[in-house]
Amino acid sequence: MTAKPVSHSRTTLTELMIPSYANFGGKIHGGILLSLMDKVAYACSAKHAGQYCVTVSVDGVNFRQPVEVGELVSLMASVNYVGRTSLVVGIKVVAENVKTGIVKHTNTSYFTMVAKDEFDKPTEVPPLLLETPDDARRFLEAIKRKELRASYSEHFDNAKTRMLLNENVDKLTSERCQLTDDLKNQLS
Ligand SMILES: CC(C)(COP(=O)(O)OP(=O)(O)OC[C@H]1O[C@@H](n2cnc3c(N)ncnc32)[C@H](O)[C@@H]1OP(=O)(O)O)[C@@H](O)C(=O)NCCC(=O)NCCS
Repeated sequence: MTAKPVSHSRTTLTELMIPSYANFGGKIHGGILLSLMDKVAYACSAKHAGQYCVTVSVDGVNFRQPVEVGELVSLMASVNYVGRTSLVVGIKVVAENVKTGIVKHTNTSYFTMVAKDEFDKPTEVPPLLLETPDDARRFLEAIKRKELRASYSEHFDNAKTRMLLNENVDKLTSERCQLTDDLKNQLS
């Protein structure tokens, strides 16, 4: 398969934040931004893959600043990493107040997408042609995130958490929670 450059699939989506996207305080719901991120991740990944793609996982969604009604939100997406059938799309989200010209960086998130064939099976995607130091840095950072996620999953699965419940119950006493007597008896 011929490698495709990052520029081939780089995608920007800009949308005006209208009142129906907001809560009663005029702040945009996080889910609206997530939906826009999913759309731009789809467009970017499908352009690179030349196939229909599905969202598999999302990393790094931390909204640092609120987005207000009337602001223009731009989502800049590019393929950061390519595996065999999966690809990671990095998305930078900024919100601009057109009157003041102030631009806020609200978050940068990473969507893992998988290309599917006509039988709904994961299918190979073209390699990524890295042309700039930023392309290379983002590819390496995606590998690091993948390694960290694997190690996180290994250390934090539900079975282990359940097994350690009796041993760790004391930690709950310093937290803002209360245990019923019945639960205390079950855990003692
Ligand atoms: C993701 C999915 C395709 C994996 O299917 P599978 O039969 O387990 O296929 P594989 O094990 O070959 O994984 C395919 C790729 O997905 C990657 N992958 C699977 N689960 C992943 C996860 N949780 N996070 C990141 N990557 C993941 C694998 O590493 C592999 O990548 P690679 O080919 O680049 O090495 C399948 O679980 C699926 O279709 N999920 C539903 C996705 C969807 O419909 N999303 C829309 C939300 S409604």
